[in-house]
Amino acid sequence: MPAELVCFEEKCRARFPITEVIYNCPRCGGLLEAGYEPPEQSALMLKRIWRERRTSNAPLDQSGVWRYREFIPFLPSYNCVVTLREGNTPMLEARQAAQYGGLDKLVFKHQGFNPTGSFKDNGMTCGTAQALRLGMTRVACVSTGNTSASMAAYASAAGLQPIIFIPHGNISYGKLAQALEYGARTLQVEANFDQILALVRQLAERLGIYLLNSINPFRIEGQKTIMTEMLDQRDWRVPDWVVLPGGNLGNTSAFGKALREMKELGLIDRLPRLAVIQAEGAAPFYKLMQQKRRSKLPTVQHPQTLATAIKIGDPVSWPKALHEVTASGGIVEKVSEQEIADAKAVIGRCGIGCEPASAATLAGIRKLTQAGVIDSGADVVAVLTGNVLKDPDYIYRYHTGALEAPDGSRIRSNFGNAPTVVPNDANEIARVIGS
Ligand code: F0G
Repeated sequence: MPAELVCFEEKCRARFPITEVIYNCPRCGGLLEAGYEPPEQSALMLKRIWRERRTSNAPLDQSGVWRYREFIPFLPSYNCVVTLREGNTPMLEARQAAQYGGLDKLVFKHQGFNPTGSFKDNGMTCGTAQALRLGMTRVACVSTGNTSASMAAYASAAGLQPIIFIPHGNISYGKLAQALEYGARTLQVEANFDQILALVRQLAERLGIYLLNSINPFRIEGQKTIMTEMLDQRDWRVPDWVVLPGGNLGNTSAFGKALREMKELGLIDRLPRLAVIQAEGAAPFYKLMQQKRRSKLPTVQHPQTLATAIKIGDPVSWPKALHEVTASGGIVEKVSEQEIADAKAVIGRCGIGCEPASAATLAGIRKLTQAGVIDSGADVVAVLTGNVLKDPDYIYRYHTGALEAPDGSRIRSNFGNAPTVVPNDANEIARVIGS
């Protein structure tokens, strides 16, 4: 059986050709996912092939996504793949962060080492390949910043026209700058992420533009490889927990699908538990998990957080994410602006650094160990989703005591590191450094 698009809804499971340009099930409106027959190779064989490709100079093998192509076999050939050598992100042990989080040991899988500085690149190389395969010429996304930076880069590299829609005044300059530099037609809309997504879905159909938000199943396929690479790097030892921030919930969906499929293929023997962390002012998924009946998402009309990457009140992938968190025996937690800011500074002090949304992971870990949900001796991998330079304005404000939460309250610089202004005077500078 070739690859197919399959409706994610248990009651429907309708199947469609992989080349159909649809983002929801035409029968029931459910989300779609890519479905495959299992690969010919055994789990052992796949592990060997993937490990050997690390020494190859072929672009496809050098990509931390396409190296695992047997795990994402939606293309008939690889002529239309554009790779910027995405993936290949490190696993970084961080002692100070572990201590802060109440753990004996903590390892970060740092997706901020990607070509455009976020995990979106893992998915975008796949979404772009599918766009080329379908003969599309224009691609679009609505974004809180990282998706647009990534799509702009990949689309331009592939010779496609990128059109991005971003909430005016609500994305960090690092991300906006990338989109401009990579040549995206950039539209700043005076609405929030959720409102713009509804708008862009209409426009994409009307104008025949291919949509590359995480509702696109091929983006999800690419992001699956974050988990594959993580397990490959750990010689296939499964951690107890994988902790990640939740916004539109595409990554949660991708990680869950990847882990289930790897278990089905015999690549791993059990599932790690997923812990999804949301910002308090944008936590519809957290609220959903607090309810007994989980058939309707309690959306947040006006989401608020300084972690603009996850400032989303109506995440499209929530049904998938709900399934994945439940299947893994996982949990959803929420954290405050102060908790995110302090956790971020601690990650910085480890010499690692990340953008605000990513730091929700460590803030969540701290809360979950304090509550006794995560054991201090647990084997935990936290996924840092974006690079420290994505949002320098936030950093400067935090360290100089000028960071304000969306409600106007001042964030305390508990781990502040303000610069000191000194005169052009060697004695005075010696005195300052000496003290
Ligand atoms: N972390 C970062 C740095 C992000 O940019 C995002 C999402 C997330 C976490 C949340 O991931 O949506 O899969 O749950 N950013 C999207 C964007 C929405 O447009 O760049 P998610």
